[in-house]
Amino acid sequence: MKAMVLKSFGGSGSFELCDVPKPVPQAGQVLVRVHATSINPLDYQVRRGDYPDLVQLPAITGHDVSGVVEDVGPGVTAFAPGDEVWYTPQIFDGQGSYAEYHVAAETIIGKKPPSLSHLEAASLSLVGGTVWEALIVRAALRVGESVLIHGGAGGVGHVAIQLAKAMGARVFTTVRETNAEFVRSLGADVVIDYEKEDYVDAILLETGGRGVDVVFDTIGGNTLSRSPDALAQLGRVVSIVDIAQPQNLVQAWGKNASYHFVFTRQNRGKLDELSALVARGQLRPHVGAVYSLADIALAHARLESLNNGVQGKIAIAVEPSLIA
Ligand SMILES: NC(=O)c1ccc[n+]([C@@H]2O[C@H](COP(=O)([O-])OP(=O)(O)OC[C@H]3O[C@@H](n4cnc5c(N)ncnc54)[C@H](OP(=O)(O)O)[C@@H]3O)[C@@H](O)[C@H]2O)c1
Repeated sequence: MKAMVLKSFGGSGSFELCDVPKPVPQAGQVLVRVHATSINPLDYQVRRGDYPDLVQLPAITGHDVSGVVEDVGPGVTAFAPGDEVWYTPQIFDGQGSYAEYHVAAETIIGKKPPSLSHLEAASLSLVGGTVWEALIVRAALRVGESVLIHGGAGGVGHVAIQLAKAMGARVFTTVRETNAEFVRSLGADVVIDYEKEDYVDAILLETGGRGVDVVFDTIGGNTLSRSPDALAQLGRVVSIVDIAQPQNLVQAWGKNASYHFVFTRQNRGKLDELSALVARGQLRPHVGAVYSLADIALAHARLESLNNGVQGKIAIAVEPSLIA
């Protein structure tokens, strides 16, 4: 099968299109013909060598799959050849989704939401699972609460806005001006231009000085260190960005705040819950751009660049007929 193989850490051109053996499903595993995948910042972080101790080269990276079951290993009961499926592969195992076929444990695979295309489903599995873990499992967001979602136009942020609205929350989000209409169309109640406004001032003004119940940090640095300033008493902060700098938490103590750090975990249950929201029309990933597998370097370079004009996700059409 064809796969984009990372042989050395480096720039976006570090991938090589190679012929590699098609994987064979073992007990409890499913072989999937990959129709689409998508790009996540984790992909370029791995590629440039941010996690050299966790990734063994040569590696196939890629962290989203939407495709069709081709074969199943002994003992698999939940899936059969021909089923449309979606999931996030195990991270850092060197057997990712930039390939024509992928093998995974049946426990992490879900039935693809029928109303989503493969490009859309591949744009939702990792970010959707992460947002579910952050807002529902960790922050335990409740009806009527308020949440600040940083980076609302990004892959994670645009799903977080929709999920928070589905949960009945009031949504504040930070974006650059050109993305304001996009996030309003997803349901954001208060849109803050992070280039022109101080988001803490804007939140305190809008909430009469109270602050928000939950801050969802998808940026890191200043957005984490200033979270207590924007937080209500007993508020929760969830960060999905790994930050090496020490943090001063004195102000968080004054707010009786709780902090959660999330690194996405796979399971079928989360995918099924996201699927239910998709079926009810409350959640739909936005595919902002599509590239072919052979053009993965272009897709990486685009996501990695600042102000790249992408709203939502960059999807990869592994099946060539999915790209015009
Ligand atoms: N821990 C986990 O499991 C996990 C899972 C998924 C993602 N992540 C991490 O979460 C981060 C976001 O991922 P993503 O997929 O959403 O990336 P993305 O699609 O590149 O989106 C990032 C968004 O942030 C915006 N942005 C940049 N600087 C900003 C600022 N100062 N304030 C507000 N918005 C800003 C960007 O838009 P403009 O530049 O156009 O303004 C873009 O829309 C990445 O660091 C990723 O590694 C972690």
